Amino acid sequence: MSDIDSDDDVPALSAETLAALQEFYDETSSSTPSDQFTVGAVEEDWRMSQFWYSDETATRLAEEVVREAGEGGRIACVSAPSVYQKLKQGSVVGSDRVSAVVLEFDRRFSTYGDDFIFYDYNEPLSLPDDVAPKSFDVVLVDPPYLSEVCLSKVSETVKYLSKGKVLLCTGAVMEKLAGELLDVRMCSFLPKHNRNLSNDFRCFVNYPSRLLS
Ligand SMILES: C[S@@+](CC[C@H](N)C(=O)[O-])C[C@H]1O[C@@H](n2cnc3c(N)ncnc32)[C@H](O)[C@@H]1O
Repeated sequence: MSDIDSDDDVPALSAETLAALQEFYDETSSSTPSDQFTVGAVEEDWRMSQFWYSDETATRLAEEVVREAGEGGRIACVSAPSVYQKLKQGSVVGSDRVSAVVLEFDRRFSTYGDDFIFYDYNEPLSLPDDVAPKSFDVVLVDPPYLSEVCLSKVSETVKYLSKGKVLLCTGAVMEKLAGELLDVRMCSFLPKHNRNLSNDFRCFVNYPSRLLS
C-alpha cells in the first residue's frame, strides 16, 4: 500500500468539528429565498422599541388585511414589518392577490427593495413623492411608543395613506386617544409577541372586523 492510501494521510476532524460542519451545511442547504421573510429573521433591537409578533399573530393580522384589502388591494404596514413579512411568505391564502409595502425606520429592512419606504414618525408626512395620498386600501400600524405625541404624529401618516380602513395595534392605554384621532374601537382579539410584553396590548379598527368578536 502506498503512503497516499495510508489512513495516516486522511485529514482527521474531531467529532465536535464534524457535527458543527454538518449543522452549517444543513442550515445553508435548507435555506430558501422565502427565509428572508421569516417573522423574526431580523433581530429585535430594543433601542428602536422592536417587539415582534408571534408567528400566529402575524398570520392572523396578515389574513385580516388580505381579506379587507380585497382582490388587487394595496396594504401599507407602518412600523409593522412582521405583517409585511408574513404577507410575503406566501403562506397566507390570497396574499398573492394583494400588494404590500413596509414603512420602517430600521434600514435593515431596506433589503426588501422597492417595498421598503423609510419612515420616521417625527416627520409624519415626509414620504417619497411616489407615495400618493389615499392610495392604500388597508393601513396597519404599530407605533413604536406609547405616547400622545407618537400616536398623534403616526395618525397624520395613517390619514395621508389611507383610503379608509385602519388597523392600529398599540397598548390598551391609548384607547381614548386612538378613538379621537382615528375613530377606531378596540377589538377582543389579543395580539401576542415573541417576548411577553408587560402592558395590555390590543388591536383597534375603524371598520366591521372579525377581530372585533
Ligand atoms: C412596537 S414595534 C412594532 C413591530 C410589530 N410588533 C411587528 O412585529 O412587526 C415598533 C416599530 O416601530 C419602528 N420604529 C422605531 N423607531 C421609529 C421611528 N422613529 N419612526 C417610525 N418607526 C419606528 C421599529 O423599528 C419597530 O418596527
